[in-house]
Amino acid sequence: MDVRDAIRQRRSVRRFDRDRPVPRELLLEVLDAGRWAPSSCNLQTWDFVVAEDEDLRRELAREVRSLLLAPVGVFVVYDRELAREGHGNIQSAAACIMNMLLAATARGLASLWVNALGERARVRELLGVPEEHEVLALVCLGWPAGSEPPPVPERRPLDEVIHWNRFRAGQGALPRSPDPDDWTLAQIGSYVRRKLQSGTRFDKPDPAFFEPVMEAVRAHLGAGEQAFRLLDVLPGPGLFSEALRKAYPRAALAVMESSAASHFFCERRCGAPLGFVPFPQSAGAKIAASCAQADAAAPSRESGGLAVVPSVLPAPSVAAGEFDAATVLFRLEGVPRGLRLQLLQEAAARVRPGGRVLIAYTSRRSWHLPAYALRRRLGRDTVEYAPAPDGNIIGPYEPLAPGAVRELARACGLVEVGETRLQALPDFRAIGPRLRSAGLGVRLLARLAAIVATLLRPAAGLLQPLARIRILCLKRA
Ligand SMILES: Cc1cc2nc3c(=O)[nH]c(=O)nc-3n(C[C@H](O)[C@H](O)[C@H](O)COP(=O)(O)O)c2cc1C
Repeated sequence: MDVRDAIRQRRSVRRFDRDRPVPRELLLEVLDAGRWAPSSCNLQTWDFVVAEDEDLRRELAREVRSLLLAPVGVFVVYDRELAREGHGNIQSAAACIMNMLLAATARGLASLWVNALGERARVRELLGVPEEHEVLALVCLGWPAGSEPPPVPERRPLDEVIHWNRFRAGQGALPRSPDPDDWTLAQIGSYVRRKLQSGTRFDKPDPAFFEPVMEAVRAHLGAGEQAFRLLDVLPGPGLFSEALRKAYPRAALAVMESSAASHFFCERRCGAPLGFVPFPQSAGAKIAASCAQADAAAPSRESGGLAVVPSVLPAPSVAAGEFDAATVLFRLEGVPRGLRLQLLQEAAARVRPGGRVLIAYTSRRSWHLPAYALRRRLGRDTVEYAPAPDGNIIGPYEPLAPGAVRELARACGLVEVGETRLQALPDFRAIGPRLRSAGLGVRLLARLAAIVATLLRPAAGLLQPLARIRILCLKRA
């Protein structure tokens, strides 16, 4: 196979035929391709550990869940000390992995590059890798299951990634800060689009968070038989839009979005037509132009199920006051402070008089902030670890003061009709597994906090004012 074809046809495969073994000569051919990669000063600071023993694989899979996806798992190890300057060691090992993936593709093998290795120290111990080495990644290899290749995640346009002579700040470069005030709306849109492009499905919300929130939404909006018109504001990957579609199968559902790409992603996810309302309103024409441009440049249908560039521009045709209800679920926290009022005003203006606006948000007057401060101390301080209550809520994020949310609602002519408070105390069943890779001190601290939380549980009612999640039901006057 031609290199160009191998580069284009290589996909990250997550469904392998686990019963079909990879012949040893073929595996050796792939590993040999890795050995021929360039390396810093030709030091070749890589080693490959092939995990074959079934007991060992089962033990490793407690940390590296992807290992059991494929019949072959190759752990790529690099030397932490040699060729360290400028990350020469890591760059060399990455080049070596890429060689393996291309060689595998050329021979019809499926592959997956995995860096989610759980507790790396444990993996190193299980593989007998010495201290001065580090396990960089796992390469899964095998024959693909089924005949359909995975969908092709889109790439950023070439003219966005190339900088001639000097780096153009603002041209594709994104802030790293988790604070929404450090971002523009366009940058937030671009970040969300890229996350969607990565091909990640965003479909495994933490049930301890998601289910009670949806229950409260249904309690405030009424039963699912209603054939009403519902607007979901800035849905991002569309987790809640999909749940709303299921809860209200007869509702006419629309999303208010800053990018048509997000609308398109949500629509595919919901499996039914979704109305589209641009936010800010003034962006409508710009979105139309960018869609047309994207369409001309990249016919999206070739990208399979996860393509996010629409080939048909959604119709921004919804008139003011047309909706019976709007849901703003964990989105006020994700826009720059100066835009929050505008967002709520534009959402409220779409709702008929007497209609409902539901705002779900993370309260900063809760245990959330100290818990997040602890996370920051662990070095997780970028937008990827922004303090949203669930990994499916992407982008910068800032928990809100309940007083500030009420003030915004008042300024939009919205009258409070009810409120649900959830998570007065942290749920350590959900937090525990996420701390697996944290140090012993942090895990002990979490254990201590879990004991305190259990002791406080009978007093949860009294702690309601400190609840982390609030769902505010408002009526348009
Ligand atoms: C450094 C690196 C780490 C990755 N880690 C994971 C991983 O832990 N789990 C996973 O499912 N995919 C992982 N991937 C695969 C990416 O999700 C994938 O490359 C991306 O979505 C683009 O899709 P494509 O490889 O099919 O073009 C990783 C890729 C790279 C380069």
